[in-house]
Amino acid sequence: MTIQLGLIGHNGHIGSALLPFLLDANEKGKIHLVILHRPSSDLGVIPTKIERRIIRLDDHTDEGDQVNKNAVEGLEVLISTMSDASLHVQLPLLDILAASKTLKTFIQSDFGVSWTASEINDSKGLQTLVPIKEEINKKMKDLGIPWLNVRIGLLVDYFFGLKFLGTDVQKNKIVLYKDALNKPLRLTSSKYLGHALTQLILTSSSNLDSLNGRAIHIFNYTPSGQELIDTFQKVHHRQPIIEQYTLEEYERDSEDTNLVMSIKAGLLRKWGEDTWSTFDDEEILPHDPTWTGQRDLQDVLRDFM
Ligand SMILES: NC(=O)c1ccc[n+]([C@@H]2O[C@H](COP(=O)([O-])OP(=O)(O)OC[C@H]3O[C@@H](n4cnc5c(N)ncnc54)[C@H](OP(=O)(O)O)[C@@H]3O)[C@@H](O)[C@H]2O)c1
Repeated sequence: MTIQLGLIGHNGHIGSALLPFLLDANEKGKIHLVILHRPSSDLGVIPTKIERRIIRLDDHTDEGDQVNKNAVEGLEVLISTMSDASLHVQLPLLDILAASKTLKTFIQSDFGVSWTASEINDSKGLQTLVPIKEEINKKMKDLGIPWLNVRIGLLVDYFFGLKFLGTDVQKNKIVLYKDALNKPLRLTSSKYLGHALTQLILTSSSNLDSLNGRAIHIFNYTPSGQELIDTFQKVHHRQPIIEQYTLEEYERDSEDTNLVMSIKAGLLRKWGEDTWSTFDDEEILPHDPTWTGQRDLQDVLRDFM
C-alpha cells in the first residue's frame, strides 16, 4: 500500500537529510510524497513530478486555514522539520490535523535529545527551545492526534563540521567535559537518519497505527572521549590536544541566550554525565540490517580535515 506522506522543511538541515530517502521511496511507489512548502520556499531540489502543496502556517485567517486544510488533505504521515524559530506555527496546524480522517502519524519538528529537568533548568537557551516542543507534544495528546516523536543525537555534520562542541578535527583538538572520556557521545549521520526514519515508516506500512505514541531515538555512532582520542590519533598520527571544558565555561555558556552556546553547554554536560538514556520513553531504534552506509569513524573524520 502506498503511504501518503507529507514533508515540511525540505530545505533545512533535517529535511534535506530525509528528502533523498523519501524521494527514493516515492520513486519505488512505496510512498506518495507531498512537499508542503511556503509560497516563498525554494523548490529547486524537488523533481517536477513530485506533488507540492502550499502551506501558510503563519496565516491565521479563514483563508489561511483553508490553504492549510487543503495541504494536509489525505495525508497519512506528516513529517515536520520546521526551523527552531518557527516551531510555534505547528500549534495551530494541530487543530487542523485533529480533524483529519486519514492521519496516522504526525512527527513534529523535534529531532533533538531528551533533556533532563536539571539540564533545562540550568540553561537559558533550552528554556526557550524545549517548552515549545513539549507544548506541541501535550497539545497532540490532548487533541488525540497520533504522533511519533523522533529524537537523534547530535548530527555528525554539527559535531565535526560546525565544531558545535568545540572539538576541531583540523586542529586535532578534542573538548571534553566531566567524565566524557569514558562516556558515549551520540552522533547521527544525516544519511543514517534519512534511511532509518524512512525504513521505520515503510516497515510499518501495513500498520501505521503502530507508530503512534512512541519516542524513537535514532543515532549511529557512540564514541567515548577515549575512542575519539584514539581515532584522532590514528588519522593525524599524533596525539590530539585535549581541552577540558570547565564548570565556569559551562555556567557562562548556559547563561547565554544564544541557543547555539546553551545547547553546546547542555550537550557537553549530557555527554559527560551520560544522561542520554535516563528516560521512561527511551526506545532506541535497532540498527537496520539493510543499512549498508555505516562508515568507519576514521573515514568520517577525514571528510572534515
Ligand atoms: N540534533 C541535532 O543535531 C539537530 C540539528 C539541527 C536541527 N535539529 C532540530 O531539528 C529541527 C529542524 O531544524 P533544522 O535546523 O533542520 O531547521 P532549519 O534548517 O533552520 O529550517 C528548516 C525549514 O523550516 C522551514 N520553515 C521555517 N519557517 C517556516 C514556516 N513558517 N512555515 C513553513 N516552513 C517554515 C524553512 O523552509 P523554507 O525556508 O524552505 O521555506 C526551512 O527550510 C529543530 O527542532 C531543531 O532543533 C537538531
